[in-house]
Amino acid sequence: MSNEPIMALPQRGSGEGANFDEIIPREGTDAIKIDRVKDECGSDDLIPMWVADMDFRTPPFVFNAIRKRLEQGILGYTCQNPPYYESIIRWNKEQHGMDVTREMICYIPGVVSGIFLAVQAFTEKGDRILIQEPVYHPFCFVPEACKRQVVQSSLRRTETSFAMDFDRLRQDIKGCKMMILCNPHNPAGICWKKEDLQQVARICAEEGVVVVSDEIHCDMVFRGHKHIPFASVSEEARRISITLQAPSKTFNMPGIVASQAIVYDKKLREQYFNYIWGTDQDLGNVFACDCVMACYSDEGREWKQQMLDYVQGNIDLVVKRFAEECPQIRPIVPDASFLVFLDCTALGFKTQGELEHFFAFDAKVGMNSGAMFGKGGVGFMRMNVGSPRSIVNEAISRIINACHSYPLR
Ligand SMILES: Cc1ncc(COP(=O)(O)O)c(C=O)c1O
Repeated sequence: MSNEPIMALPQRGSGEGANFDEIIPREGTDAIKIDRVKDECGSDDLIPMWVADMDFRTPPFVFNAIRKRLEQGILGYTCQNPPYYESIIRWNKEQHGMDVTREMICYIPGVVSGIFLAVQAFTEKGDRILIQEPVYHPFCFVPEACKRQVVQSSLRRTETSFAMDFDRLRQDIKGCKMMILCNPHNPAGICWKKEDLQQVARICAEEGVVVVSDEIHCDMVFRGHKHIPFASVSEEARRISITLQAPSKTFNMPGIVASQAIVYDKKLREQYFNYIWGTDQDLGNVFACDCVMACYSDEGREWKQQMLDYVQGNIDLVVKRFAEECPQIRPIVPDASFLVFLDCTALGFKTQGELEHFFAFDAKVGMNSGAMFGKGGVGFMRMNVGSPRSIVNEAISRIINACHSYPLR
């Protein structure tokens, strides 16, 4: 980013209503979404709809919190104080019906870091860790980087989405030390049902497996759906689980790097939190707690609903236009998150490489290849619709036009 003075930071309160149609240029701001699009998607003249941050302005109450901190004048070390914990406790009670106490909460830098720390704290080199592919790719590469064995227990494709395959899970869990669960699920946007989660808890408890439940998308649930926290489904789920949360996705501030772990079981949390404290990973940056508190507030609740209603409109558009104009592309309609997993198998490409090439060089839209989430993602592309509607609409048009003009396969 250059040293030019930046435009005035937004002053508005959330009460005026956020403008999600606003197009905010991100070129020249070191945004991964722009600067890494060629590495990830193959070309750089694409509409970037890949990495999971949104193109909406981060809400004004977050800027206000940062501004207040800046005005104080010293960017020294900071610690987590009671108001920080209280905001997390209040939010979890109000949003998810979760009863959390202060000692159950620990600041972690990011959710992926939280996974890494859990892998280190609870497993040894060579240990088996189960994931349910297709799933958020760091679930695989973090344990692998730590020299653990990843057991890929596949989800089952259903007519409209993916489902857990419990027979397979029962087999695959044998000998595992840990399971990493994605709830809600990325890339398919599934809010797992209570019964599913109860079964996972039962199977893992029987095998003595620790469950790391990544719930980063828990606040991005659309009307008519509900997030069920894994730790809420049974006593055994509470006893064996670590829940990872963050306001970063919902409030579009992943660059702030502020997340939290919640652990009910005393023994489990001593092991996990001692590891985190021992490695100084709870030392948040100077803005982290201020931003978390700003999000978990009345203003945050109001902004979040406006944002979700807008994103829902984008998803409706994706679903409607593909159904009417290009039915070979079948989106999985998400219950949560701004990510839409597009089933492109009916386009008839022979290889995933050809499909990726088509999106980058014919459609000119930058999306994540489904294959990066595991073999069940082959034939899919993941589209991030956390963008102004005009951009989403243009991306859909490009894809549809490319499909129509592509030589018949
Ligand atoms: C399921 C899931 N977990 C974790 C992350 C990243 O979290 P963090 O930036 O806090 O490491 C993402 C980002 O897309 C995600 O989708």
